[in-house]
Amino acid sequence: MPPHPRAPGLEVGITEPMIRDLVGTFYARVRQDSLLGPIFNAEVEDWGDHLARLCAFWSSVTLMTGRYKGKPVPAHARLPGISNRHFAHWLALFAETALEVCPPAAAGLFIDRSQRIAQSLQLAIALDRGEGIEARHDAA
Ligand code: HEM
Repeated sequence: MPPHPRAPGLEVGITEPMIRDLVGTFYARVRQDSLLGPIFNAEVEDWGDHLARLCAFWSSVTLMTGRYKGKPVPAHARLPGISNRHFAHWLALFAETALEVCPPAAAGLFIDRSQRIAQSLQLAIALDRGEGIEARHDAA
């Protein structure tokens, strides 16, 4: 499917080959990472399928192609022991990889979206686990 004319990725030069390059490089590093590798290697049975799904996901996020049709919340909520520490490390590794693989403006968009999506995933996981949200006392 072609990019949507108002997709944010178009302005910063994101293309499907760039997405494939980023996703391939990132998960190759994830598999060898001492914190994240064991989780992924225990869970992912078919890496070809995982990479194709993640390319579709990033294509939908940045190029608005609607290629991704999955449910990321249950896929993560069922992972035992996944914590904010894992997310922080995932995000750092993703940002480092994006800056290496993509031109700066494209990397900036991938990084911005990864941080927002990780935040909403973490919130959804906490709610799924019945942890609720700490009341904030700094609101006016
Ligand atoms: C601590 C960080 C994370 C861990 C350990 C993790 C782990 C996983 C695992 C094990 C799967 C299932 C793979 C499979 O069975 O094939 C998965 C799927 C997925 N992850 Fe993550 N993930 C993390 C963070 C993120 C973030 C920040 C994003 C988005 C920016 C993301 C996007 C996705 C998507 C789109 C899927 C496919 C879900 C589906 O449709 O089945 N993940 N992840």
